Amino acid sequence: MKTTAIQVTNLTKQFKTDVALAGISFQVQAGEVFGLLGPSGAGKTTTIKILTGQLAPTNGLAEVLGQPVTNLTEKSYAQIGIVTHQSGLYDRLTVNQNLNYFAQLYQLKPARVTTVLKHVGLEADRNKRASKLSQGMRQRLILARAILHQPKVLFLDEPTSGLDPMTTQAIHGLIRDLQAHGTAILLTTHNMAEATALCDQVALLNNGHFAELGTPQALRLKYNRQIAFNIQLKMQPTAITLTAGPQTTAKINHWLTEQTLLSIHSCEPTLEDVFLTVTGRNLQ
Ligand SMILES: Nc1ncnc2c1ncn2[C@@H]1O[C@H](COP(=O)(O)OP(=O)(O)OP(=O)(O)O)[C@@H](O)[C@H]1O
Ligand SMILES: [Mg+2]
Repeated sequence: MKTTAIQVTNLTKQFKTDVALAGISFQVQAGEVFGLLGPSGAGKTTTIKILTGQLAPTNGLAEVLGQPVTNLTEKSYAQIGIVTHQSGLYDRLTVNQNLNYFAQLYQLKPARVTTVLKHVGLEADRNKRASKLSQGMRQRLILARAILHQPKVLFLDEPTSGLDPMTTQAIHGLIRDLQAHGTAILLTTHNMAEATALCDQVALLNNGHFAELGTPQALRLKYNRQIAFNIQLKMQPTAITLTAGPQTTAKINHWLTEQTLLSIHSCEPTLEDVFLTVTGRNLQ
């Protein structure tokens, strides 16, 4: 049975004359990762702020775990985790103290802190002050704090921006783990590879509208105007691109028989290409 964790219907947000959200609708189910993609100023953070009760919507309906976001209670917040760039840490406290403080607020067992520290790979740094952490360690501590109370819904505003590939991989692993345990996750990103790798569904946000919504694969196939293959042959310095058809099939068969085909890839567009086609804008 599907459990809807986030339900958004015709949500709008206007700042004076500036329309940040012009009526967006989507749902996120338990155990699903939903990606909000869009260039700077598209309205991603605004959406997260509205869904976490930090900003009032202008119009429309938004519910998290069945509760209208304009009326989130302490009980709601006990089931929500938030990672944003404004997520503050207590810089003078150690990693351990930062987490213990929240564990006490949520009345969690101290063992939970150790479990989460291991999970985010900060166990060896538990006695370091937050002010002495690297950016990647800091981001993992913010994430640790956001998942400490095992929230049913997790909001991640650009969780890996500015991080090295190893830390990014570690955070991706964590996100997949949480998803497998039934957490509903809404994340924003500029990183299309990240969205393709993690998201069950993505929405392409442009000027406050959803230009597209669907699975990454479905969107890539939808905008695949011409089926083509990128082929690398033995003894050839550069790869070639051939469009699908009887001639290409015959050539590929020949190269396979001759064992001269080193690699072959289909050339469907990336999500970035899709975004550019749909909106005429780059994501960065
Ligand atoms: N508190 C505010 N007051 C006035 N305008 C705001 C406010 N917050 C956001 N906006 C405007 O709303 C629009 C969307 O901003 P938002 O922060 O949601 O973008 P974003 O998609 O998160 O961008 P980025 O990728 O740069 O983080 C922008 O035009 C921004 O100027
Ligand atoms: Mg933002």
